[in-house]
Amino acid sequence: MNQSQKTGIQKEVSLTHLNTLGLHSVAPLFMNITSETQLIELNEKGFFSEKRPFVLGGGSNILLSSRLSVPVLKMSIPGMEMIDDDGKNVQIQVGAGENWHELVSFAVQNGLGGIENLALIPGTVGAAPIQNIGAYGVELEGLFLSLKAYDLKSSSFRTFSKSECQFGYRDSIFKRELKGQMVVTSVTLRLSKKDHIIHDSYSALRYYLTQNKIQNPGIEEIYQAVINIRQSKLPNPSDIGNAGSFFKNPVIKQKQYNELKDNWEGIPGYPNGPGWVKVPAAWLIEKAGWKGLRSGNVGTYKTQALVIVNHGGATGQEVLEFSKKIQKSVSEQFGIDLIPEVNIVH
Ligand code: EPU
Repeated sequence: MNQSQKTGIQKEVSLTHLNTLGLHSVAPLFMNITSETQLIELNEKGFFSEKRPFVLGGGSNILLSSRLSVPVLKMSIPGMEMIDDDGKNVQIQVGAGENWHELVSFAVQNGLGGIENLALIPGTVGAAPIQNIGAYGVELEGLFLSLKAYDLKSSSFRTFSKSECQFGYRDSIFKRELKGQMVVTSVTLRLSKKDHIIHDSYSALRYYLTQNKIQNPGIEEIYQAVINIRQSKLPNPSDIGNAGSFFKNPVIKQKQYNELKDNWEGIPGYPNGPGWVKVPAAWLIEKAGWKGLRSGNVGTYKTQALVIVNHGGATGQEVLEFSKKIQKSVSEQFGIDLIPEVNIVH
């Protein structure tokens, strides 16, 4: 048996069905990871010594080039374990390869709260802390306790507490100083068993609940409401390729916001710490004339301008060029630089 058979390394693997934008891409080397020991074995065989691998989760937040220059580790470590229960809260440790939405559904079905606003976010559990996923007024950091990761630099496992992850808006240390260095293998979350704290003040959620005459919603109602809102606004990647929000919502100085307000009536803005305002990128893109626009195989989604879609057959390069045109146009009209939320992988 040669080395590649022993370690399960595959060569020239298509990633087209492993990224939600549906971009054609090939990995020169590919390895499906189902256990922590596999990482140690691969390291001992020198698999990580030449080039640091790219860790692929659900492929829902990435823009891939047509041929990657690095090996790919597909994170598929399974498992879900209750490691603590004090009667009020539980601690649940989840394998990085588990599907995020399945975890949310499992929690809600079992009366566990705190995670319901994060229903239907595509991707894996291991990817969730990398960009501190968030939606409808809740971010992962609110329920996060710790994670375990394999450090490719020191070849050892390490546990990160919440503060060590340095979470920010769609941000963590794993997108900055430790970019590409840690392979998350499990995540531990705290969920409530009773006296759930309901987060229903996000405007789109509030509107939905009022329209549907839902008073005093419980975790199941919030879960269902979020699913219905997302399905009505965001494209399902199995119908049309996309990676959710393509850019982050920019945070600008209050002074700049005030100046923009004089020229652009109704520009939305949400306070984001003293002297700073967060402006919806979707609004800027829409006002710059890009909503629902199509250029070749790429476009923005008709009901959410922040989502770039692949109408079929687009390449990573095409998507990138399209996104740059949007950036240029928003910069020219508003003086605001949009920063991609998706991870661009070469
Ligand atoms: N808006 C427009 N045009 C549009 C869509 C929205 O002008 O085409 C404006 C509206 O004023 C709306 C505001 O933008 O009130 C905010 O829109 P929305 O509630 O849809 O949220 P978002 O800021 O565009 C963020 C997250 C989403 C998350 C939603 C709901 C980011 C980058 N995106 O989007 O996350 O689902 O809030 O909480 O923070 C993702 O990260 O991939 C993602 C989908």
